[in-house]
Amino acid sequence: MRIAKHHLKELIKVKLNKAGLTEEHAEIVADVLVHADARGIHSHGAMRVEYYAERIAKGGINTDPDFKFEKTGPCSAIFDGDNGAGHVAAKSAMDEAIQMARENGIAVIGVRRISHSGALSYFVQQAAKEKLIGISVCQSDPMVVPYGGAEPYYGTNPIAFAAPGKDDYFIQFDMATTVQAWGKILHARSKNETIPDTWAVNEKGEPTTDPFDVKALLPIAGPKGYGLMMMVDILSGILLGLPFGNNVTSMYHDLTEYRNLGQLHIVINPEFFTNLNGFLENISQTMEDINNIKPAPGFDKVYYPGQRSAEREREYEENGIEIVDDIYEYLISGKIHNNTYDKKDAFAK
Ligand code: NAI
Repeated sequence: MRIAKHHLKELIKVKLNKAGLTEEHAEIVADVLVHADARGIHSHGAMRVEYYAERIAKGGINTDPDFKFEKTGPCSAIFDGDNGAGHVAAKSAMDEAIQMARENGIAVIGVRRISHSGALSYFVQQAAKEKLIGISVCQSDPMVVPYGGAEPYYGTNPIAFAAPGKDDYFIQFDMATTVQAWGKILHARSKNETIPDTWAVNEKGEPTTDPFDVKALLPIAGPKGYGLMMMVDILSGILLGLPFGNNVTSMYHDLTEYRNLGQLHIVINPEFFTNLNGFLENISQTMEDINNIKPAPGFDKVYYPGQRSAEREREYEENGIEIVDDIYEYLISGKIHNNTYDKKDAFAK
């Protein structure tokens, strides 16, 4: 079904507020989730609300966090999220990073002790909208088989990047370092669809097409994706003095406990490296160049990263956002589920 963006945001906000989040925090989380749905990243949109609401209601997300921002150098800082909603802490930390990069050219901010923060594109876009380059990486629960391994060690550890062009356009890349994000498996489950056999493995380590049979995910490009997820775990875990590798908390392990996750934002101010207008012109030029590349057989066009999501956002803005009926039914119901996700394995089973 289709639903207007503001209506979806309001439904999410009301549900999270009912679960125990303050109105202010519920509004921000709803904004991040609707951002994802509006860009077609449904794996990180409204479908997460049922899990968040259960965790909030059980005390596994701090509803009254004491955020602390501590500058540790001219271009560095630690933002302590006190295990509040990750979306809220990551957004506030990015606001600080933007300010710091405006003044000093660069900002590296470690966001410590947070809960799940959703689609990282939201945070790098905050920077791009201010004519800055945004980079963000974060830990997620261990569910990926390292190259050559038969057991999970790293998370789907995403990397996001955004750079501004002219006229409020920007180029943006945002991906899990697995062939697919775990949320895509959840999305396939919610729609009762099969998955390609290149995404994940079953208990025996064999490729599977059944989203309900998934026991571990696969890194992108074998040892290369595995290397990237290692890098993310060091930057957003070990560097911030947080649990790392397979000691990172699991999403569904115990919904009464805090997750203590880490995220790292890097913001670069182009003005400290080159002429800003020239930079914006050249980013727009590279977007245009990419679009003018001759498409390979079977492709209609070569898109720059983030372009299809931006086009979808414009279409959804006009015609409403596509969401699964069951999710809508849950959102309009007065229910906060008590036992859908708690004490499950990494794959919610
Ligand atoms: P995806 O596979 O949907 O897209 C990956 C990237 O490829 C995007 O930048 C997209 O713009 C680009 N792309 C896709 N098709 C393209 C095409 N035809 N031409 C040009 N570029 C194209 O993303 P993925 O890996 O499924 O991640 C989804 C979301 O999950 C992300 O927002 C990520 O931040 C989030 N995530 C969050 C986690 C967390 O713990 N907070 C953990 C893992 C993922």
